[in-house]
Amino acid sequence: FKKISVGKNDKGLKLYDPGYLNTAPVRSTISYIDGDEGILRYRGYPIEELAQKSTYMEVAYLIMYGNLPSENQLLDWEFAVSQHSAVPQGVLGLDVYNSKQVRDKQIARIIGKITTIAAAIYLRMAGRPPVLPSNQLSYTENFLYMLDSLGNRSYKPNPRLSRALDIIFILHAEHEMNCSTSAVRHLASSGVDVYTAVAGAVGALYGPLHGGANEAVLKMLSEIGTVDKIPEFIEGVKAKKRKLSGFGHRVYKNYDPRAKVLKRLAEEVFSIVGRDPLIEVAVALEKVALSDEFFIKRKLYPNVDFYSGLIYRAMGFPPEYFTILFAIPRMAGYLAHWRESLDDPDTKIMRPQQVYVGEWLRHYAPIKERT
Ligand code: ACO
Repeated sequence: FKKISVGKNDKGLKLYDPGYLNTAPVRSTISYIDGDEGILRYRGYPIEELAQKSTYMEVAYLIMYGNLPSENQLLDWEFAVSQHSAVPQGVLGLDVYNSKQVRDKQIARIIGKITTIAAAIYLRMAGRPPVLPSNQLSYTENFLYMLDSLGNRSYKPNPRLSRALDIIFILHAEHEMNCSTSAVRHLASSGVDVYTAVAGAVGALYGPLHGGANEAVLKMLSEIGTVDKIPEFIEGVKAKKRKLSGFGHRVYKNYDPRAKVLKRLAEEVFSIVGRDPLIEVAVALEKVALSDEFFIKRKLYPNVDFYSGLIYRAMGFPPEYFTILFAIPRMAGYLAHWRESLDDPDTKIMRPQQVYVGEWLRHYAPIKERT
């Protein structure tokens, strides 16, 4: 199958497959099902045999690690699991609502509270008390106000800075079926409440191949340090020792339009808060990569994460906060997809297929007879 289009008028191959009914996106060795024959095996063991002879802890180990445990392995496993069983009291009292009846209220609640929660996290990281939101300010101004006002109600954030952050929020608000948004769709397809669906998405966003890439870019630029070290770094990328963070995209095989805006915006932010010296490394790195056959052939261009980290750092945000700055605006996209999925009559629980390549059929051996 073609992964991407090969010509101007060629859109490549796409399957409209609601709920992944006929799609197998992974190969797996964990379990095998033959729905027609009524067969279920875990790692090759018939479920009936396991149900009769095994224990849940033993099966959990089998599923996790591929083989039935030895006596010592089982003891270690059971100990590790029991050590983590305590649940904080607050979690037990959590309420979830029928999302379809109150969805617009929930959307407003989540988008409204996300900046307050994000600001409280920031302040906590800085060892400062939380600040109450101000409804006299715009969405982005209020966010900056909570971060920087130290509770002074007459504080007003720099309007150029809050505009710049607002643009960043716009650029990050939505991006169709990216990894975290498809996670929302996936979670929502089970009928789960919206809070769980967006929390799961934020988990996916945090990964270094997704929203965590801007943090990775900054680390990469710091490691390179100076422009003269770029050729050596690029050679390492071409030798596949590491990736060039902030480059490449599943969908864009050209310059990410968001990256273009951010590159310009970086200069605007630097003119307010001071220039980050790593911008020279970033610009030179981009230039070298864009004229190198390795990147040209693979259509690798800067993506949205290439310049955003530098902007955030210049604004004074610590790298571990960057994904939060992505998650705040992307809430809009997540919630829009969630809402759309509720209205779509084609929505089915997402349950993809797999290609089973594991053990075919094995029989249960008592623990002392295992080799
Ligand atoms: N640096 C070096 N080589 C790369 C890069 C990169 N950043 N990205 C892709 N390639 C190479 C791959 O090694 C592969 O080479 P090959 O054909 O010789 O095997 C080829 O380009 C195609 O890449 P795939 O991995 O097949 O592309 P895919 O669409 O699966 O991955 C992804 C897209 C994950 C974004 C990838 O480009 C990447 O890892 N980039 C770096 C991380 C990053 O910046 N992520 C943020 C993306 S934007 C966002 O999520 C908000």
